[in-house]
Amino acid sequence: MPKTPDYFHGKTIIITGAASGIGRATALIFAREGANVVVADVDAAGSQAVADALRQRGSKALPVATDVTSRPQVEELVRRAIAEFGRVDFLFNSAGSAFRRCKFLEIDDQLLERTFDLNVKGTFHAMQAVLPHMLENGQGVIVNVASMSHKRGGPGASVHYAAAKGAVLTMTLGVAREFADRGIRCLSISPGPVNTPFAMAADTPPELVRKFVEDVPMKRMAEPEEIGELVLFMCSDACGYMTADTVYVNGGGGWR
Ligand SMILES: NC(=O)c1ccc[n+]([C@@H]2O[C@H](COP(=O)([O-])OP(=O)(O)OC[C@H]3O[C@@H](n4cnc5c(N)ncnc54)[C@H](O)[C@@H]3O)[C@@H](O)[C@H]2O)c1
Repeated sequence: MPKTPDYFHGKTIIITGAASGIGRATALIFAREGANVVVADVDAAGSQAVADALRQRGSKALPVATDVTSRPQVEELVRRAIAEFGRVDFLFNSAGSAFRRCKFLEIDDQLLERTFDLNVKGTFHAMQAVLPHMLENGQGVIVNVASMSHKRGGPGASVHYAAAKGAVLTMTLGVAREFADRGIRCLSISPGPVNTPFAMAADTPPELVRKFVEDVPMKRMAEPEEIGELVLFMCSDACGYMTADTVYVNGGGGWR
């Protein structure tokens, strides 16, 4: 929660991957707080549907079909956000996927490249596109999504994904420290299993999902709103001294 009432009122956030799961839940939370939301996703119909839902609740929302692996599309996203709302205060990079679960020796070059293109380059493009604008404003907060898997390495199922999220974590650290004295904060969140279409998108077998959940001390997945509320806190004026680090949201830990 912010320190100042109405802190988010009229401020603008760009959310990538906003058509589903954590990105969508975060869009609804920021809209609740009166923020303008730029709903970016490769799923154009999904972005439109989320923007419609936000507008129905009285918020200002701009859907922008964006493939974050494309630098020109991400640059256009930031241009459109500034043209519509005048400035961008926050960026939440939620677009990400593990694509496919497999053992380490079955990871082919294509899977590795796709995973790094989306999770690493997507985050990299968005940060590079928005940072000059935030630096000009003298303030801005970027929140990236890593994963608890970066700590576990994803043995037997997703080393490609865990490694990409490790890169997101490291990039966050570097950006945060490079721009810390210029009004920019940059943080990452490392969730455990979250109840979204993510597992389905990566064709995760149900028995693996059960194993993930059984190993969580709280014996349940996070709900996407439990990540979104943390994004709100991280972007708020109650969180002014926190930058560079990742915060684990994982019900006490998980799959080793
Ligand atoms: N759900 C989990 O268990 C979990 C755990 C740890 C980390 N994460 C991370 O959380 C983030 C959000 O995942 P989620 O659970 O909400 O999954 P999700 O599948 O519900 O949402 C991901 C969204 O990203 C979008 N997307 C995919 N490729 C894109 C591209 N090239 N450009 C723009 N958008 C694209 C999808 O269309 C989708 O709307 C991801 O970065 C994921 O890696 C998820």
